[in-house]
Amino acid sequence: MTDKSEWQSRVGKSWAEAWQLTDRSFSGLTSQFLDMLTGMPGHTILDIGCGAGELSLAMARRRPEATVVGVDVSPDLIEAANARSASHPSVEFELGDAAVWSRPNFAPNLLVSRHGVMFFDDPVGAFTHLHTIAAPTARLAFTCFRWPHENAWIGGLAAIKGEGGSRSDPHAPGPFAFADPARVSGILTAAGWSGVRIEPLDFAYVAGTGEDPVADACTFFHLIGPLAPVLRSHEGEQRREAEQRLEAWLRNNSDDGLVAFQAAAWQVTARKG
Ligand SMILES: C[S@@+](CC[C@H](N)C(=O)[O-])C[C@H]1O[C@@H](n2cnc3c(N)ncnc32)[C@H](O)[C@@H]1O
Repeated sequence: MTDKSEWQSRVGKSWAEAWQLTDRSFSGLTSQFLDMLTGMPGHTILDIGCGAGELSLAMARRRPEATVVGVDVSPDLIEAANARSASHPSVEFELGDAAVWSRPNFAPNLLVSRHGVMFFDDPVGAFTHLHTIAAPTARLAFTCFRWPHENAWIGGLAAIKGEGGSRSDPHAPGPFAFADPARVSGILTAAGWSGVRIEPLDFAYVAGTGEDPVADACTFFHLIGPLAPVLRSHEGEQRREAEQRLEAWLRNNSDDGLVAFQAAAWQVTARKG
C-alpha cells in the first residue's frame, strides 16, 4: 500500500531524487501512451498526479497551443517539476490533492495521467470530482498497472524482501489498486464517466542501463519500489544479505547491457457526456 501521506513524504522525496530513473523506467509505456493521446482532442489539459512532470511537458511540446496544468500531492515532486519546466511557459505545476483540487476558470477538456490515479482513498469520490471540474465534452485517459502476477518484477522484489508477494487488500491505494479492469470500469461509471475502454499496454520496465547495468539497477531499487524502505531500515549483515540477493536477481535479469522486466499496464479512456 502507498497512500497519499507516503507520497507527501518519504516516497515523493525518493521519486523527486530519482525522476530521471523513473522516467527511464516508464519510457516504453510513455511513448505508446503519447501515441494513443495523439488521437484525442484537448487544449486545456490536466495531468493528475503529475509527479516530476514528464507527461505534462511532453503534452506541452506536442500541443504548443495548449495550456497544461500538472497537480500532485508531493511538494518534492512539484519542486522537481517546476525546476524542469522553466522554459515551458504553457505548463504549470501546482501542489494539490487531485481528489478535491480545482482552479477558477480552468475546466480541462483532456485529463491525463501516467500511473497517478491509483492512490485515492475514495476513488469514486475523486473521479466524481474530476468529472465535475472537467469541461462538458472532456476526455479522460490514464495508465495503471495490471495484476502483480503479470508484472513479475514485483514478485522478485517481494521474494528478496522475504514475502510471498500477496497483498491483504488488493484495492488499498497503491500501484496495483487498479489492476482489476471490472473495478476500474465500475469506479469510472459510478463517477459519471461514460464510454470506458480498457486496453492492455505492455512495455519493458527499465531498471538499469549503461556500463554497469546491474549496479545501475541496484541504485534504482534502493530508491524506488517496495525494497527501498526495507534496505534503508536494515543494517549490517541483514542489509548485506538483502543486497546480495538483489544483485543476484538483477544479474539473472541482465541481458545485453540492460536490466529490464516485462511489465503490464492498462490504458484507460473515458469521456464526459
Ligand atoms: C507512480 S507516481 C507517477 C508520477 C507521474 N505521473 C509519473 O508518471 O512520473 C504517482 C503520483 O501520484 C501522486 N499522487 C498520489 N495521490 C495523489 C492525489 N490524491 N492527488 C494528486 N497526486 C497524487 C504522487 O505524489 C505521485 O507523484
